[in-house]
Amino acid sequence: MPQQVSTEQRSLVHWAEDGRAEMESFYALATEDYRQMVAARDWAADLRGHATDGRARVLDVACGSGKFPAELMRRGLAEAVGDTRVEIDLLDPSAFSIAEARSVLGPPFTVHAEHEVRIQDLASDVGGFDVAWATHALYAVPPSEIGAGIARMVAAQRPGAFGAIVHATSASHYLRFAEAFRTTFGADGAPFTTAAQVRHALTDAGVMPEVTTLRYDVGHPDRAVVEGFLQRCVFDDSVPLERMEDEGAVGAYLSGCTGEDGYRFSQVVDVITWEIPA
Ligand SMILES: C[S@@+](CC[C@H](N)C(=O)[O-])C[C@H]1O[C@@H](n2cnc3c(N)ncnc32)[C@H](O)[C@@H]1O
Repeated sequence: MPQQVSTEQRSLVHWAEDGRAEMESFYALATEDYRQMVAARDWAADLRGHATDGRARVLDVACGSGKFPAELMRRGLAEAVGDTRVEIDLLDPSAFSIAEARSVLGPPFTVHAEHEVRIQDLASDVGGFDVAWATHALYAVPPSEIGAGIARMVAAQRPGAFGAIVHATSASHYLRFAEAFRTTFGADGAPFTTAAQVRHALTDAGVMPEVTTLRYDVGHPDRAVVEGFLQRCVFDDSVPLERMEDEGAVGAYLSGCTGEDGYRFSQVVDVITWEIPA
């Protein structure tokens, strides 16, 4: 099914040095995702509470440019974990992403290993993690492969480990815009994976997920920044903002996203957590 891999391939093309400017536009708005998720729970307690002999081994699945650990650090994680050491393995099929994530990490994180693979393809001898997380990370994993990807993530955890996936629901901007864009511009590739599909995959992998839903808006007054954000949302920079505003389902969707000071996009995001049975 070649169609089913092209969203993932497009994602990889954009997670590269050539996509840096677009990535920066994206995070002008998407930084709020990381503020919200870090504020949503006591991640230091998750790390301390699941450490083994004073050390928490973490698998960061689809690490991207490291926005999640960077926001944890900005919010005082080093102090909050006390003397717990946090050793992180960075997993991403993009070498660019791994290098970006590595460059932002500081205390309490030390990089233990890098895995330049898709989560579905992680070698079976990599495992034993105390914590595994994937934050706004799994949209481009095809729905037909999300089960295999999550099964691999869960299998990489030790008994009693903690897991978290932060993922937008189908009511969220990321999913609504991507679907409208596919309908309007006939973009090929699999649809983005939804939070509901992630939850089902976790249940199929034998864990009991708990879910907290976050609701917030993101926006920016500068149209050029909004254009870069929207293009990055769908890994397609071929359609300018004016054309998106004029056409079909995307035009209709965008007309409902206007705020006082430019566009506002509503995010509805599940923080999905679990513990591996001991
Ligand atoms: C939005 S970023 C994740 C953000 C990141 N969690 C952070 O804290 O900044 C999405 C990442 O998913 C990666 N990716 C795409 N397909 C993947 C797959 N099948 N398995 C693992 N990572 C994948 C991309 O290369 C990209 O780096």
